[in-house]
Amino acid sequence: ASKKIAIVVGSLRKDSYSGKLAKVMSQLAEGKLDMDIVEIRDLPIYDPDIDTATPPPAYAAFRERIRAADGILFITPEYNRSVPGALKNAIDVGSRPYGKAAWTGKPCAIVSQSPGALGGFGANHHLRQMLPFLNMPAMPAPEAYLGGIADKFDGDRLTDESLRGFLQTFVDTFAGWVERNAG
Ligand code: FNR
Repeated sequence: ASKKIAIVVGSLRKDSYSGKLAKVMSQLAEGKLDMDIVEIRDLPIYDPDIDTATPPPAYAAFRERIRAADGILFITPEYNRSVPGALKNAIDVGSRPYGKAAWTGKPCAIVSQSPGALGGFGANHHLRQMLPFLNMPAMPAPEAYLGGIADKFDGDRLTDESLRGFLQTFVDTFAGWVERNAG
């Protein structure tokens, strides 16, 4: 059976390019990876005082979805040269309780995007900095800093065939990465 991947999208925006990319990449992975887009918008800002023996239902549900995955695909914009707060929050929520992080050992890959030329490089690498601490093997290459993203879609349809080819290579390489590194 195909490995199960949780896609975590770093944007809450309805017409998010990250969200559009998540849908395109899910299609490109059909028959190879089973993609599940996991919502992060309802997670209360991480607060150890509310993360008791009975955590907020949104924390518990999120951790369950992440635990059920064999691998994680992060797709994110860059906010102020780093990851959006909502994504950092989701990572924090999934990292607790201490010693029982939902992320532990899950192979992952990162896609960053921006209408600008740098393609969210800063966000991509700030995210990479967290991964050794979470014990997540991160796919080194291909790197995905998708610049000029606003010119690549017509509505939800990806119109840039060269980008589609790159995303296909990325997904196929990630399928191999998950196969080799999943626990
Ligand atoms: C941005 N944007 C942005 N872009 C960039 O390339 N580098 C940056 O540091 C920032 N900073 C930033 C901060 C804040 C608060 C916002 C709201 C936006 C632009 C942003 O990355 C761009 O609009 C993305 O394409 C949005 O991604 P989604 O929502 O379409 O997935």
